[in-house]
Amino acid sequence: MSSDNNQSDKSKLGYSVGTTLDRFIKSKQDDFPFASGELSQLLRDIALAAKIVNREINRAGLANIAGAFGQMNVQGEEQQKLDVIADIRFTRALTKGGEVCAIISEEVDEIIDTGKPEGKYVVAIDPLDGSSNIDVNISIGTIFSVYRRVSPIGSAITKEDVLQSGLKQVAAGYVLYGSSTMLVYTTGNGVNGFTYEQSLGEFFLSHQNIRIPETGKIYSINEGSSNHFEPSIQAYIKQCKDKEMSARYIGSLVADFHRNMLKGGIYLYPSTKKDPNGKLRLMYEAQALAFIVEQAGGKASDGQRRILEIEPENLHQRVPLYIGSKSMVNEVEGYVKEHSVHA
Ligand code: AHG
Ligand code: MN
Ligand code: MN
Repeated sequence: MSSDNNQSDKSKLGYSVGTTLDRFIKSKQDDFPFASGELSQLLRDIALAAKIVNREINRAGLANIAGAFGQMNVQGEEQQKLDVIADIRFTRALTKGGEVCAIISEEVDEIIDTGKPEGKYVVAIDPLDGSSNIDVNISIGTIFSVYRRVSPIGSAITKEDVLQSGLKQVAAGYVLYGSSTMLVYTTGNGVNGFTYEQSLGEFFLSHQNIRIPETGKIYSINEGSSNHFEPSIQAYIKQCKDKEMSARYIGSLVADFHRNMLKGGIYLYPSTKKDPNGKLRLMYEAQALAFIVEQAGGKASDGQRRILEIEPENLHQRVPLYIGSKSMVNEVEGYVKEHSVHA
């Protein structure tokens, strides 16, 4: 056999496993010569917690950690055991890391002081999103936002540190525990997605520079509540049907959002007569996904305002959310505007 043949045989044997999340984070940090690496470490802390939560979710049916925890959270929703487990895992990872001085979580009433006043960053988190889907083996997620604190480093945490508008985010991301587990994040320079390779225990770059299609054929909304929607949203849904678009609704925001990011589409959680601000939370869900969707070329609105420009007033406030392909969100805003003129 010639040496040429040997070469080509060898190259067939070892395919490249690709870029790990760690290496990718490091390469991005190297783009900023004065970056101190704390944000990089914070992202690694989140990835580690995500791996642990992924493990817990995968064995939930076996380990008696499915089902209700037996308490309500501050939102008045019944906590699942995995909501509590995920909250503990992320809080612990972020506290140990030392880069974060405060955390706000959908599952906790008050600001969590990590006891690390030297930490430069604040994190807002929905530790487990889509918790009604845990017990039925359907995709769920985690959503996070990272802000720079505004009070001086070393001083006590203030409300202003945690109540920042979405425009102030320095990073945001989500983890999707689905048919494969993915971590998708942005630091304001495009969106990249990493798929978890279980046997190696690593996230690998799988979706580089994600761009959401300008428009799409999917609309995602809980139509069971449509009797309570504003006439503008009812009219928008009617035209989706007239155009024979596809309805896809998982009931886990992360999963619905991720699908629409890749395929093109819109996710709607409107205000209803019962819940004038809808259900979703500005600080834990809407702001992070708004930053990500804009970085991917899409749009996020409450019907009138850009989500990222809303000034938060309290930790757990809710907001109507229309998010996804830009031209579809523009269309919804058009319906809202038209109906307010004729109201
Ligand atoms: P969470 O599990 O974090 O409370 O979030 C649930 C949210 C979101 O994931 C999902 O899209 C929405 O609630 C579903 O609400 P409906 O059951 O009202 O459609
Ligand atoms: Mn949620
Ligand atoms: Mn949640």
